[in-house]
Amino acid sequence: MDYSDLIYGYEKKVPTALGLKRYINFDNAASTPPFKGVMKLLAEEAEWYSSVHRGSGYKSRYSTDQYENARQSIANFIGADLAHEVIIFTKNTTDSINKLSHYLSFLPGETVIYSKIEHHSNELPWKKAKNICINLRNEGIDLGELEQVLKANPGKIKLLAVCGASNVTGYIPPIHTLAEMAHHAGAKILIDGAQLIPHRPVKLYPANDPRHLDFLAFSGHKMYAPFGAGVLVGPRALFTNKFPSQVGGGTVRGMGSSGVLWVDPPEVEEAGSPNVLGSLALAKAAQILEQIGWENLINHETSLLEYSLIKLRQIPNLILYQHCSNPSIGVISFNIQGIEHYQVAKYLAETRGIGVRSGCFCARGYVQSLLKLSPVEIDRIQSTLIENVQAQTPGMVRISFGCYNKFSEVDCLVDALEELSLGIRKRGGSCK
Ligand SMILES: Cc1ncc(COP(=O)(O)O)c(C=O)c1O
Repeated sequence: MDYSDLIYGYEKKVPTALGLKRYINFDNAASTPPFKGVMKLLAEEAEWYSSVHRGSGYKSRYSTDQYENARQSIANFIGADLAHEVIIFTKNTTDSINKLSHYLSFLPGETVIYSKIEHHSNELPWKKAKNICINLRNEGIDLGELEQVLKANPGKIKLLAVCGASNVTGYIPPIHTLAEMAHHAGAKILIDGAQLIPHRPVKLYPANDPRHLDFLAFSGHKMYAPFGAGVLVGPRALFTNKFPSQVGGGTVRGMGSSGVLWVDPPEVEEAGSPNVLGSLALAKAAQILEQIGWENLINHETSLLEYSLIKLRQIPNLILYQHCSNPSIGVISFNIQGIEHYQVAKYLAETRGIGVRSGCFCARGYVQSLLKLSPVEIDRIQSTLIENVQAQTPGMVRISFGCYNKFSEVDCLVDALEELSLGIRKRGGSCK
């Protein structure tokens, strides 16, 4: 399968030490390039763009309709029922989860569970809310341990906050089983869908189904629509008649001596002028993913992942940090013994024009555990960071696939990594 023709800018060449080379983007877990179909839609819609909701001119009414159609098409994409649920357009997943943390109020002793594999965006908002957060051990989500934690805290667990897929290993937790467990214990579940949404179909299921996902957050820029829009989905009732997370224009229905009367959700959570074109882009990208077809997309990405793992395992000195269980999205983290992660990333960029991510991927808990760093080592690293703003921390190199990546691109990566790895052997452990 070759989906590269769907990608805007796929053929762009970038400077490398060996001259201009076509850019190979293996950093899709961070952000994806736009679909051409998204760019085309933006160019068309921009001609008709005007302020939404409060304008009376033709273009304003047109843009308002398009904006609300985008909301409906996102609802269809994830199987949300707009009578009970709201689709709130946000900036990104981080914004969505921070908004949600504003709405969930906690009684003393009430707790959020989040897992050890979470991105900081699905960890810090819960720490900030000063709840007792329980780390799940083992590298994946240990269902036995989760069961124990739920049983040991009857009526105290308010929320289970987990990612739909890890941005470090690609591991896909069994989200609907987790939902059933959370609901059985009287808790709600939030799925941080930042990584899952571009790679797997996600359905909320109706609210009376134990598999139901209460909250879902995701970002347009990770699903081929990098134009500043994200989504938060949740029950309409939670956002109704509450003090919004941000106040300002567009949130007020009335203002009198008794105070402010807020508009209903979703508008109450979209203070100021919303990102209309970004939201249209996101909805269009969702439509294109469905047009490609999930089965085609999953087959292609899984073959690419398996092919890469076979090749990478043959490279001497390369350490893979894979989660032992399937399924996974196309994310692979590794190190080459004796070479710092950032040197590997730099070499790939400079010699092949390959873009990867290196470091801790905003998931320090998971990365430090995979690197088997002791608490003492972690504290030492922290002290180094305090003393030196330029200091690099231990980390990994991550490659992450989009639907448009090709086997030949993997070959190019493997070639460069072999070169690096053999270089170490030749030079006895150093890499320049
Ligand atoms: C699992 C996960 N959650 C949340 C985020 C944050 O997404 P955003 O930067 O779009 O807010 C990321 C970004 O990499 C992620 O991988």
